[in-house]
Amino acid sequence: MASITIRNLDDEVKELLRRLAAANNRSMEEQARVMIRAAVDGQVGPVGRLDQIEKALQELTNSQGTPIRASALTGKSLPRGTLSNKRILLIIGGGIAAYKALDLIRRLRERGAAVRVVMTSAAQEFVTTLSVGALSADHAFTDLFDRNDEHDVGHIRLSREADLLVVAPATADLMAKLANGHASDLASTVLIATDKPVLMAPAMNPRMWSHPATRRNRASLGKDGITFVGPTKGEMAESNEAGEGRMAEPLEIVAAVEALLDAGPKPLAGRKIIVTSGPTHEPIDPVRYIANRSSGKQGHAIAAALARLGADVRLVSGPVTIADPAGVKTLHVERAQEMRDAVEQLLPADAAVFVAAVADWRTENSAGEKIKKVAGEGPPVLRMVENPDILASVGHHEQRPALVVGFAAETQDLLRNAEAKLRKKGADLIVANDVSHQSGIGPSGVMGSDRNRVRIVSKAGVEEWPEMTKDEVAARLAALIAERLTTIVV
Ligand code: CTP
Repeated sequence: MASITIRNLDDEVKELLRRLAAANNRSMEEQARVMIRAAVDGQVGPVGRLDQIEKALQELTNSQGTPIRASALTGKSLPRGTLSNKRILLIIGGGIAAYKALDLIRRLRERGAAVRVVMTSAAQEFVTTLSVGALSADHAFTDLFDRNDEHDVGHIRLSREADLLVVAPATADLMAKLANGHASDLASTVLIATDKPVLMAPAMNPRMWSHPATRRNRASLGKDGITFVGPTKGEMAESNEAGEGRMAEPLEIVAAVEALLDAGPKPLAGRKIIVTSGPTHEPIDPVRYIANRSSGKQGHAIAAALARLGADVRLVSGPVTIADPAGVKTLHVERAQEMRDAVEQLLPADAAVFVAAVADWRTENSAGEKIKKVAGEGPPVLRMVENPDILASVGHHEQRPALVVGFAAETQDLLRNAEAKLRKKGADLIVANDVSHQSGIGPSGVMGSDRNRVRIVSKAGVEEWPEMTKDEVAARLAALIAERLTTIVV
């Protein structure tokens, strides 16, 4: 079976593929396959007639015919990649996560960025300069002084000719070098010679990440203006290792790059917006707690989308394993009462978006010591009390933001329940989603999945949005919030 070689396509078709693939978060090969499938299924071209499609393609592509122009296939001009004309200098450190840097190069290029790569000598133990060169369509830079190398452009030019420096994976060693001003190889020299923003995606063993030296370096790099994405919690590549230290996923890094470089319109500039996200954990005793399945993906994506539109976003996040969104000030809390206190302290604000799946109840008294099994006594009885309703308290607050948006996670009677929540909680908009296992999204429903299907309920009625990724829901909701805020006169 032949595979699709994108390299052999002409530039215009490649460009079309690049844009469509980036828009759909697919690789270019996947996008090509989906397009061919759609054409064969008759969704493109003369509808449903394979023989007609074949005839049309025969005429368009025969050796005497004019080559197809990509724009002729879409009927309109190509959309611009979010990173077109942007130059990224990617520094790959030596760690097992270096393999993800290869995907990162592709994702950045799919969005139109030009990517140049510097590799440390340790990085070359994990990925080859050959793969990096092929994926970036440029030479991989490795040596500080390479007088024999015709590609050598010098460290100053390397850092000057970029709009942004990305370090992925950022190892403990690279962080330590920059935090302490070392310039002992090309990567550290470029980092210290640059006048451009730097984004670091740390990746290391959880013990290395939690070591006081790394914590110190992380803090001083933050003070020096370095932006971080991740690390996240989870399984490490080394067997039997789990914890905080996993590199953020390539698409999370791309989102952070877009946020740092975004030159798009900023309709929310000067607006302060509070977002709650994730679950809350309500303690039973020092080792046990009540939680729910919320991953924080939707709330974090909304915070990031609002920040991309220029808002000053304050995210109050419950315990999640995903990275803090770039460009957002994030506060971490555990319990509903802490979340309520954090939100109230952040008032006044122009808008507030309550995405968190706040636990409705907590135990009346969480035990100070671990509850033990006592022979003959049976299981303990937990007495629950109601948690504060954060959305309702802000919806009726004397410092109520001009726009208050809530979510309604329902497993039945979606619209009726959402409308009741709109009234009861004093919200302007309720984003209603079906979180039942029957929603057709993900193996265990919307919670934890990357996709969502929502309806927007307001006094004016109900607007149904098609199923899309949580990032797309976030972008659309952020645009709606921007539109609403610009029409609200306060
Ligand atoms: N919410 C909140 N504080 C709570 C409970 C919910 O701020 N203690 C917010 C959520 O962030 C969401 C909205 O209220 O924006 C609705 O949450 P949901 O769990 O759907 O509703 P509940 O009020 O908990 O009602 P029920 O569980 O009975 O459906």
